[in-house]
Amino acid sequence: MTPHLAAAPPVSVRVRAPGKVNLSLRVGARQDDGYHPLVTIFQAVSLVEEVHAQQVPDGSGISVSVTGTHAERVPTDSSNIVWQAAEALARYAGVAPDVHLDIVKGVPVAGGMAGGSADGAAALLACDALWETGVGRAELMDLAAGLGADVPFGLVGHTAVGTGRGHLLTPAMARGEFHWVFAVRDEGLPTVEVFRVFDDVVGGTPDVELADDTELMQALRAGDAVGLGRALHNDLQRATLEMMPDLARTMSVARDSGALGVIVSGSGPTIAALARSRQHALAIAASWTAADVADAVYCATGPTPGARVVQH
Ligand code: C5P
Repeated sequence: MTPHLAAAPPVSVRVRAPGKVNLSLRVGARQDDGYHPLVTIFQAVSLVEEVHAQQVPDGSGISVSVTGTHAERVPTDSSNIVWQAAEALARYAGVAPDVHLDIVKGVPVAGGMAGGSADGAAALLACDALWETGVGRAELMDLAAGLGADVPFGLVGHTAVGTGRGHLLTPAMARGEFHWVFAVRDEGLPTVEVFRVFDDVVGGTPDVELADDTELMQALRAGDAVGLGRALHNDLQRATLEMMPDLARTMSVARDSGALGVIVSGSGPTIAALARSRQHALAIAASWTAADVADAVYCATGPTPGARVVQH
């Protein structure tokens, strides 16, 4: 008789999670809890974070390492979102929080593209697989929301409408592939600061509505890049430009290169330009480089999937 062999738990799990651009970001007035009600349409793009969760001896606790662009700016202590993700999942699932988490940065740090949130989403999924917790998708989504407003979207990916703090998600229909170019600055902008300036200079209305995004949703459904470019919208843009006025030049260079739409990505300072094609994206990237209005330039496509295990 063949003995029954239970599959051994994995010794390491590698998870990839996407950065995002907000195609539309409508921000209401600050609430008593400090957060702002949002109606936003996220699109996941092909700039990705990787989190590699490795088994460690029992009782070792959590440790974190970071490599990739601007890794030196990312903390490796308990303030890192991957640490918090591991702790939250271990507590919830009743397992010992023993893991080493190695982050490979591919999304700009503090760039308004939710790189940290992608790390949080990836760490949840990686630890879940490493520890074989059996925690369900809905519970992982709740844990994700507890880590940060953009973390649930990091799990879900593709294109989705976010409400609440941006954490309540409904999938949005999108056809085809869109070509993006991102102009990145070395100096990041903390999201909390951008919202503070938004409070001072814009304020926001008490209610935000998706009704204003009908054209955008139609363009997405039709795979119409021209319509999408026209409909891109970001209520935080004024605050971001107030904090970094020279971003206006980065935006105008992209417009002059025929970009279908140009916006601040999330809270910035990354500028997102929508291109007609991959070749056009490369041309916009070249014009940014030639005009010296970005510290780094990346071409990407969207939508892309949410966090997923790429290797056990
Ligand atoms: O949720 P997360 O920690 O990613 O958000 C970072 C900061 O951005 C929050 O502390 C809050 O100040 C601000 N924020 C906000 N309204 C939102 C989302 C974020 O004011 N809907």
